[in-house]
Amino acid sequence: MNFDLPILAPSILAADFTKLGEELNTCSESGINWFHCDIMDGHFVPNISYGPGIVSAVRQTVPEAFLDVHLMIENPDQYIEDFADAGSDLISVHYEACPHLHRTIQNIKDHGCMAGVVINPATSVELLKPILPDVDLALIMSVNPGFGGQSFIEASFDKVEELRDLRSELRADFLIEIDGGVGTKNIQKLVQKGVDVLVAGSSVFKAPNISERIEELNSLALKGSEKVV
Ligand code: DX5
Ligand code: ZN
Repeated sequence: MNFDLPILAPSILAADFTKLGEELNTCSESGINWFHCDIMDGHFVPNISYGPGIVSAVRQTVPEAFLDVHLMIENPDQYIEDFADAGSDLISVHYEACPHLHRTIQNIKDHGCMAGVVINPATSVELLKPILPDVDLALIMSVNPGFGGQSFIEASFDKVEELRDLRSELRADFLIEIDGGVGTKNIQKLVQKGVDVLVAGSSVFKAPNISERIEELNSLALKGSEKVV
């Protein structure tokens, strides 16, 4: 699948759920075609968000959008079918939650979805080396998972560069995604460092004007992708 990079991926966790459909359409009308859906089980992370029902509601509201479903749950293999049936395009699982990660990644693909792997802030990029040839996306958490609105962990910049270099070394073609605390202050530098997909929750949905913020984030991301001569 070819993507027009960089991609701004609003995380709907930060949306106003009393008018989720309206806010999804506002994002679509502003050119968004990739949404990030955070699934939290209250065990792997200390918060509970929502389940496959919301993912299928998003799928019905924005049928053309790419749905990137981030499973912050224990035993993700138990729920891959449900999230695939709900309309996920990509399902990502945490390295820290999968003792049989290679099998889990195959399981996601067997259900017709693209597969992603996620690492927490204290997990090294090097640990992903064996699975990187098998994934479509690698996600670096730039906050501790479980909540939106947290501050960006600065050490994430180095992890992005390490992952980018590892991708070249392996001649792999997975997308690099960053998730947590992304906003107008760091999005340009993140793209310059090599990020392809930028998840932004509160920066988008808590902005005074969602459309204007999307435009601002997109133009900063595009600036970051301009080759430095
Ligand atoms: C946190 C989630 C993130 C979060 C991003 O566990 O994985 O996707 O919703 O929200 P912001 O952009 O507000 O940090
Ligand atoms: Zn997420």
